[in-house]
Amino acid sequence: MAEVSVVVTGIAELTTNDDEWGPLADAALVLDSGVVAWLGPAAKAPVADVRVDVGGRAALPGWVDSHTHLVFAGDRTAEFGARMAGEPYRAGGIAATVAATRAATDTQLGTNLRRHVAEAAGQGTTYLETKTGYGLTVADEVRAAKLASEQVDEVTFLGAHLVPAEMSADDYVALVCGPMLDAVAPHVRWADAFCETGAFDADQSRAVLTAAAGHGLGLRVHGNQLGPGPGVALAVELGAASVDHCTYLTPSDVDALAGSDTVATLLPACDLSTRQPLPDARALLDAGATVALATNCNPGSSYTSSMAFCVATAVLQMRMSVVEAVRAATLGGARALRRESGDGAVGVLRPGSRADLHVLDAPSVTHLAYRPGVPLTYAVWRGGLRVR
Ligand code: NIG
Repeated sequence: MAEVSVVVTGIAELTTNDDEWGPLADAALVLDSGVVAWLGPAAKAPVADVRVDVGGRAALPGWVDSHTHLVFAGDRTAEFGARMAGEPYRAGGIAATVAATRAATDTQLGTNLRRHVAEAAGQGTTYLETKTGYGLTVADEVRAAKLASEQVDEVTFLGAHLVPAEMSADDYVALVCGPMLDAVAPHVRWADAFCETGAFDADQSRAVLTAAAGHGLGLRVHGNQLGPGPGVALAVELGAASVDHCTYLTPSDVDALAGSDTVATLLPACDLSTRQPLPDARALLDAGATVALATNCNPGSSYTSSMAFCVATAVLQMRMSVVEAVRAATLGGARALRRESGDGAVGVLRPGSRADLHVLDAPSVTHLAYRPGVPLTYAVWRGGLRVR
């Protein structure tokens, strides 16, 4: 099918996340061949094959959800109910999803993944990362990586999610660092380790991440989710692209992040669903760290695909401004995935960036926090194709 160029006009407020282009009022944008071909004042918009007038609505880059766990089967409603009744969240809950995922067919896992990817896209998420980590055998981790790579933009190997019941920790870490990594690495761009009490300690996590770096994979860390711990320091030490959760940070963790290129990815929906405190976004931002917001969509600790919910929570509960929260959920996620620059950049709108556009049924992005819980997605283009 021939490429059709689209000029989107009637944009009351355009968030570009680009210092040169800035936020624009009364703007238009041309999408062509999968990228942004032009943007500027509506009065100067060039002609395109198709014209779409969005009638005075706000537009922004599509959400970049840089942290999800979507290759899974089963349901943990009962665990959620117990938690709401006072039970604590524990890393070991992951085992229930591992059992259900191992028992599922490829078709069941692929269908469930497709459903969640579509659910996210319908809410304006145009760039998505997801992880393995509910297989924990070589075959199951390879299967998850392959299924994910067919449907999402970025795939992370999370063999170091939990030590499976059938193995000792030492044997499992050796498996992850050896045969599992050999088999999964060709299908993924990233590796991650859950560096937390009840999962993997700093030495085990370092062993896995160092081995992954030896395979050419970029690194990320789950850290400081359930208490203070070594995750942030390890992520900074290894030059990880992001450390995710950051719920319990010491002042030295904040300083370390501020002095590094490691993005602090905050997952407020997870903290709410596990009855943890919300992370201190203000301390990170004021210190100069780069912050991303992501959903952590998974069946255990955070079963939501709503980036808008995360943005509203960040503004209403975490003292982020609307501009900071929107930026963290777009450009911040892109930085966490090292996709913020060059041709086809995401999380930003400028000539040459990927044509990922999210139009709100509202005149400004402020409505994302002003009208929390209201579905505000009006239109979505992903790589120049209209998906909603
Ligand atoms: O990011 N922290 C580790 N992994 C997930 C939890 C997954 C689960 O409970 O199934 C998280 O919260």
